[in-house]
Amino acid sequence: MTIKPVTTAVFPVGGMGTRFLPATKAVPKEMLPVVDRPLLQYAVDEALAAGIERMIFITARGKHAIEDYFDVASELVANLTAKGKTAELAVLADTQLRPGQITCVRQQEPLGLGHAVWCARHLIGGDAFAVLLADELLWQPEAPCLRQMHDAYRRLGGNIIAVLEVPDDHTNRYGIVSPGATDGLVTEVKGLVEKPPLGQAPSRLAAVGRYILQPEVMDILAAGKRGAGGEIQLTDAMAELIGVQPFNALTFTGTRFDCGDKAGHITANIALALERDDIGPAVREWLHAQRF
Ligand code: UTP
Repeated sequence: MTIKPVTTAVFPVGGMGTRFLPATKAVPKEMLPVVDRPLLQYAVDEALAAGIERMIFITARGKHAIEDYFDVASELVANLTAKGKTAELAVLADTQLRPGQITCVRQQEPLGLGHAVWCARHLIGGDAFAVLLADELLWQPEAPCLRQMHDAYRRLGGNIIAVLEVPDDHTNRYGIVSPGATDGLVTEVKGLVEKPPLGQAPSRLAAVGRYILQPEVMDILAAGKRGAGGEIQLTDAMAELIGVQPFNALTFTGTRFDCGDKAGHITANIALALERDDIGPAVREWLHAQRF
């Protein structure tokens, strides 16, 4: 059987970002920068590196900055051109998507991640699709996470989620995998449970915001079943596909920053700043001077 490559990705960006108030009163969480690029730009770059051609953003009230960001900023381009600022023009060109590559769908109420994904059902049709949560910054420039997953998908088909091993006392914060057979980085998923109470997690393998899913998940989400926190959970819908379709977890090899969380966001800024030739030395010098 030939497995068709995945060419469409859904980016749920409709959440309220309450952990980042007051900044998120006016700035969508997904537009918060890590060094000088918005979180969403990292996720879009990761999708492009995996061969994704069509991006669907699930937006909401107050999130217009996301759509504006992906427009051509004509006045800015004219101004920079007149001043001969070629480096800045190159930065803009590097982040420009092609016309028609983005579609935005509104999530009218933040009813949960599963609900956000379901809002894309008419655009997904009958094909497998990817989901990327931009507030999870998965950093592995040589082999970006979704590319690793797409490579595995071409061999295995079915559904694939990215996982990482988290400490025992963090398992209550994630969707956790009940594992079956393991073959290197690929683990068969026997079950999925969203935010299990401490001590009741079936493993330490936690879902970290990257998914390749079969379109049938939309039929399950259509029921609108509420789960943990009263939200329509993607994890619960995925769990219903286990045993019906192939379902595997791929352990991500790279660094993960939970940028939906303040400490994770600050850490990502420091780590990525230290990697940069332009600002790395100054940041390193300051850190040394603090004698942490
Ligand atoms: P989070 O739960 O991390 O985002 O969802 P949140 O609810 O905005 O954040 P806090 O907890 O209040 O600080 C992960 C991703 O799913 C999107 C979010 O925008 C985020 O990118 N999401 C979440 C939606 O699009 N719609 C929802 O109803 C919920």
